[in-house]
Amino acid sequence: MTTPRKRVLSGMQPSGLMHLGNYLGALENWKTLQDQHDCYFFVADWHALSTNYADTSRIREFVRELLIDWLAAGIDPDRSTVFVQSRIPEHAILHLLLSMMVPVSWLERNPTYKEKQEEIKEKDLGTYGFLGYPVLQAADILLYKPDFVPVGKDQLPHLELTRELARRFHDIYKTAVFPEPKEHLTKFPKVLGTDGRKMSKSYGNTINLSDPEPVVRQKLKTMVTDPARVRRTDPGNPDICPVYDFHKIFSPLPVIDQVNRECRTAAIGCIDCKKLVADKIVETLSPIWEARAELTQHPTRLDDIVQEGSRKAGVVAKATLRDVTDAMKI
Ligand code: TRP
Ligand code: SF4
Repeated sequence: MTTPRKRVLSGMQPSGLMHLGNYLGALENWKTLQDQHDCYFFVADWHALSTNYADTSRIREFVRELLIDWLAAGIDPDRSTVFVQSRIPEHAILHLLLSMMVPVSWLERNPTYKEKQEEIKEKDLGTYGFLGYPVLQAADILLYKPDFVPVGKDQLPHLELTRELARRFHDIYKTAVFPEPKEHLTKFPKVLGTDGRKMSKSYGNTINLSDPEPVVRQKLKTMVTDPARVRRTDPGNPDICPVYDFHKIFSPLPVIDQVNRECRTAAIGCIDCKKLVADKIVETLSPIWEARAELTQHPTRLDDIVQEGSRKAGVVAKATLRDVTDAMKI
């Protein structure tokens, strides 16, 4: 007898190009999960509207680039169902139905609601859609009845709200439709950017999967180091240097040890130290670059993958929505 594979669902917003932080944080996790689980991965393009409704000019481009990044980095469409949110109208329908029963107070107390508004002062985020962001996310999740949702820690409040909404639905309609989705946390520590702060699109300190090799090398060259190391002869402290953080991620142990020792005695200079790690990053990214080029040259291949993924996802979403409307007697 075979037990059915557990189901996994996750999504990403197409709000920019994918960088090393997203890659190591989320994609590595997704890639391992697809070996043993029934995986659904989707691009949350409607979610991108919650902060970008006033300028949608790049959303389509980012959706495509994100899909290319996923596939090039090893998400395998033969094992995982890859799709785009806006192709599945059931996400919008379930969002509407859930919005009828979600108390506004649950949404207002969601920590990311206030934090994001504080952080993005230049946009008017006092909208209905922005407040309802987690309701749309709950719809995304519940439609697929997943066992696990791989996410970063920042998404835990959204997942908790998803579970609360599922319970509320069951209480009101006296029918258990949704299994409780559990988080599958990413183990990878946060990745620093070229300025030493957390790698993030909004800081402009990223190394993107789509950056060509010369750009990656240039970004490494201008990356901040231990600020106390002004001259080549000054000893440095790798513990406070973001370049050393990259070594810990990308270099083999002997090199990590060598850098750790030689930085402190000024036996190695920053230029050489950076070159060592740049070579390793280039080695990691090279197969991704090749796969990206291949996919970019064959656009219909990507279209076919998304078409087939969206078809498969649609079948699941439709079945769940039928359970929902039956329970609600509408
Ligand atoms: N909110 C998620 C993020 O910003 C993206 C997302 C949308 C998502 N719907 C989802 C993640 C459903 C997991 C499951 O990263
Ligand atoms: Fe950082 Fe390397 Fe320079 Fe040390 S030698 S300060 S680890 S870049």
